[in-house]
Parts: sequence; C-alpha cells; structure tokens
Amino acid sequence: MTLLTKGNSPFYPGQPVPVELFAGRREQIQRIIKRGVEQVSRGKPVAMFIQGEYGIGKSSIANYIQVLAEKSHHLHGIYAPLGGCSDLNDISLAVLGATIRSGVFDPRKSEKIKEWLAKYIGKQDLLGGLTLNFEALKSEAPALNSPHQMIDFLREAKNKLDETGVKGILLILDEINGITSNAKFAHFIKGLIDANALSPEPLPLLLMLCGVEERRREMIQKHEPVDRLFDIVEIEAMTAEEMRSFFEKAYDSVQIKVDESAMNVLVHHSAGFPKIMHLVGDAAYWLDQDGVIDEDDAVKAVLIAAEEVGKKYVDQQVYRALRSEDYRKILKKIAMVGTPSSMSFRKAEIVSKLTETEKKKFNNFLILFYIGKTRYFANFSKRSLCLS
Ligand SMILES: Nc1ncnc2c1ncn2[C@@H]1O[C@H](COP(=O)(O)OP(=O)(O)OP(=O)(O)O)[C@@H](O)[C@H]1O
Ligand SMILES: [Mg+2]
Repeated sequence: MTLLTKGNSPFYPGQPVPVELFAGRREQIQRIIKRGVEQVSRGKPVAMFIQGEYGIGKSSIANYIQVLAEKSHHLHGIYAPLGGCSDLNDISLAVLGATIRSGVFDPRKSEKIKEWLAKYIGKQDLLGGLTLNFEALKSEAPALNSPHQMIDFLREAKNKLDETGVKGILLILDEINGITSNAKFAHFIKGLIDANALSPEPLPLLLMLCGVEERRREMIQKHEPVDRLFDIVEIEAMTAEEMRSFFEKAYDSVQIKVDESAMNVLVHHSAGFPKIMHLVGDAAYWLDQDGVIDEDDAVKAVLIAAEEVGKKYVDQQVYRALRSEDYRKILKKIAMVGTPSSMSFRKAEIVSKLTETEKKKFNNFLILFYIGKTRYFANFSKRSLCLS
C-alpha cells in the first residue's frame, strides 16, 4: 500500500475557522445580517452581543460576518480582541491597533488607512506585514477612552474610506473576559451607544461584542442599563447536520473520503462542540493512510483527540468550570441521579432536572466530564464513552 503524502490539514483546533471551511450557523448569520449588517449599511447604528460558551464558535462567526459585511454590504470591519485589556486606555490602544490592521482584503482600503495612521506604523517586515510603532503609540496615540473620542475616531475612519464606498463601520470587540469586571467598561459601552445615538448625524456603527453569558451579566451588574443595549445572538452547540457538513467540507478540500460509519463516529463524539470537531477531524486526517477514513481511523482519532483535549484545554476549562455557579449546580444534580462508582448517568435524566440556562451549558459540561473520564480511566473501552 502506498502512503499518501499529506499537505496542509484543513483543521484548525484553537483558531477561528477560515471562511472557506466555516460550516452551519445559517440562522444566526441570517439574523446578524438582517438585523445588524443591513440596518447599519442603511445608516442605522446597531449593537449586538454574540453570546455562547467557551470554544463554541463566537470568534469564528464574528470573522465570517466581517468578511460578508466587507464584501457584500459596504461595511468596514475592525476586529479588536481585548484579551489582556484591563482598563479603557488598553481598549483605546487595542482599537487603534485593530484599525491600523483593518482593510487587509482590499488594498484601496488598507492604503487609505496606512496613509491616515502612518505615524503609528513601524517598518514593514520582509513579507509586507504591518508592525506597530510602539514608541509613537505610547507617546502620541490619540486617547479614545471616552465614548465621544471613540465615536469621533471611528467616524474619521469612515470619512477616510468614503471614496472606497464604505457606508458604515463594524467594530468587533472580542475576548472581553478580562475587562468586564471593570465597571468603567460597562459605562463606556453604554456611553458609546448613547453618544452616537444622540449625535446630530449618528455614525452607522455595528458594535459587536463576543463573550459568554456570565460576562454580559457581569456588565449588567456593573451598570444596569446595559441590559437593554444589545440584540443578543445565541451561539449554541452544533447540530449533527452542521458537524457533518463541516467534516464533508474539510475532507473534500483535501480529497479524502469518509465512510458513513466513520462519519457517524466523528459526529457523535464531537458532541456539538466545534473545538472537539477540529481535534477529532485533525487526528483522523493524520491517521488516514489511504485517502479513505474508515471506522477504525475514526475511533482511534476520537481517542487521540480526547487525550489532546486533556493536555491542551482541560486544566483551563476545569478551572473556569469550577468557578462557574451553573456547572456546580449541574454537578450537584448529577451527584443526586448518577452512579458515582461507574461515573455514569443518563443524559436525558439529567436534562429533565436542569433549568434552561443549565441546559445550554450541559453540552460543554459533558465534554469536561468526557475528558475527565478519558484521562483518568486510562483503560476505558470505546463502549464506555457512551453518554446516551
Ligand atoms: N462554524 C464553524 N465551522 C467550523 N469550525 C468552527 C465553526 N465555529 C467554530 N469552529 C472551530 O471551533 C473552535 C472554536 O471556535 P472559536 O475560537 O470561534 O470559538 P469561541 O467561542 O470564540 O471560543 P473562545 O470562547 O475560546 O473565544 C475553533 O477550532 C474553530 O476553528
Ligand atoms: Mg473567541
């Protein structure tokens, strides 16, 4: 048998998925386009909160929307991850940096942006990538840490891009976990939306925050009116069809076929969780030797992926989970119903005892449970994984 030479794996565990491989989420995308993107491109500001559990696909959907909004709806996307930000100055720098990097898919736009913000750009690296001039940023960066300053800055971005047909701005604030405990953030976001709405000519701005529900609740706790600001788009576990369509797309792109029985194993064990889907898919990609993934490849891939998940994510996830009230409540309910010695329980029995909020988290919880089981019961068999 000849071994296949492998090119690039079409799986991206741990990174937002590239647009070509983005699967499913049709309903959520339609909603964001109709109620967000299209409204803004017709001049009306909108604020949306992309809400969902850790690793469920928030950044991926935000990126997908950004590409659509830029290509087909004349918005200019600015993607600012706020990981590591703890105050408004940090946010100000993050948004400035994100603006400098914006427009990469359209040379006309990136040229205009570079011209405008030239003094904050360092020397281009050999591949033409952008580096920031940290000295200039530190000493001369415009303060964008009041709502009015931020709106004025974004308005200027739009003005600079007028000639290219830009009709509005899409500002994505992702990875807001570290900043929501700061009350100033909630006030800033509310102030931004109000300042814009009350200005004589509101900037067509789609403000999109991405985060877990707890973080949104935390913002509301810091400043109650935040409760009414956002159109909330819930990102839930993927359906079996969505996962299947992803695997088909991914393997098709590298001319690998998947047996029906193998597909069932991949889909079942991904459990609606896109992060796991990529790990399982990637493991099967590397295991495959003949261009066809069969059931044996798929089962081995699930075991490898489970171990990977353990190594990469479990500590962080368990840590977060232990701090979360909802997970603790779920655990208590399992303790009441399950059989502790075998660590087994029936999913339906637990689900019937959960509140609506807990139900949403249950899939994520199962992944943790599944990982724990995989890690600590080294000689488990394929059958013992069933969470039916
Ligand atoms: N619609 C999708 N199609 C295919 N893969 C996806 C999709 N959505 C997410 N993924 C994959 O799932 C994983 C998690 O996605 P992503 O990083 O977007 O989630 P997140 O909710 O932003 O996570 P975090 O809470 O860590 O920020 C990544 O490996 C990504 O490539
Ligand atoms: Mg993310």
